[in-house]
Amino acid sequence: EGDKSSDVVWHLASVSHAQRETANGHAPAVLWFTGLSGSGKSTVANAVDKMLHDLGCKTYVLDGDNVRHGLNGDLGFSDADRVENIRRIGEVSKLFVDAGLLVSTAFISPFVEDRESVRAQLSDSQHSNSQFIEVYIDTPIEVCEQRDPKGLYKKARAGEIKNFTGIDSAYELPINPEVHVKTAEQSIEACAQQVVDYLKCNGYLD
Ligand code: PPS
Repeated sequence: EGDKSSDVVWHLASVSHAQRETANGHAPAVLWFTGLSGSGKSTVANAVDKMLHDLGCKTYVLDGDNVRHGLNGDLGFSDADRVENIRRIGEVSKLFVDAGLLVSTAFISPFVEDRESVRAQLSDSQHSNSQFIEVYIDTPIEVCEQRDPKGLYKKARAGEIKNFTGIDSAYELPINPEVHVKTAEQSIEACAQQVVDYLKCNGYLD
């Protein structure tokens, strides 16, 4: 439908990225959690957020509760709606990263192409570190289904929910995630520590 923003002119930022980074004491990035429903994305993302906050970082969590009920309240679970869901979340994440935060996003984000376009949106030659860190919450579907915290797998099996990820809608595995977390094999705390260690080892934290 064409670019409606071609006459919109960018304002120059008066606070530089370097100044924000120095003030915050860490580099900004999005920790992009991806995985099946019930895999533990939100749980681990929130545990990471708490650890980073306790280390003095500027952080924020974006997940279904604050996004699918608000900004993306008009979207459902068709492939097209999931694509648009992730595109908008990618844009919002980019703003938070621009503001200097370590933002954790917890969405199934089932399609490789959509995750890769967020990665591309966040690659910026000015920064030595990548601003997109893919965290694969790898939990076997049998375990997710056993946990079934919201009873949705049961409904999907009964045909009461259509297009449920892992049942009758695809989940495309991450190809080369920066962090690969197995929630069925270790505690939530150990999973979160694994993510924080990645940030420490790769120069995001001072
Ligand atoms: S997506 O695929 O990234 O756009 O999905 P997301 O925004 O993360 O939303 C997933 C949560 O919505 C609930 N839900 C469904 N999930 C998958 N498939 C279908 N059809 C569906 N319908 C509702 C479900 O509770 C997911 O929550 P999580 O936290 O992932 O378990």
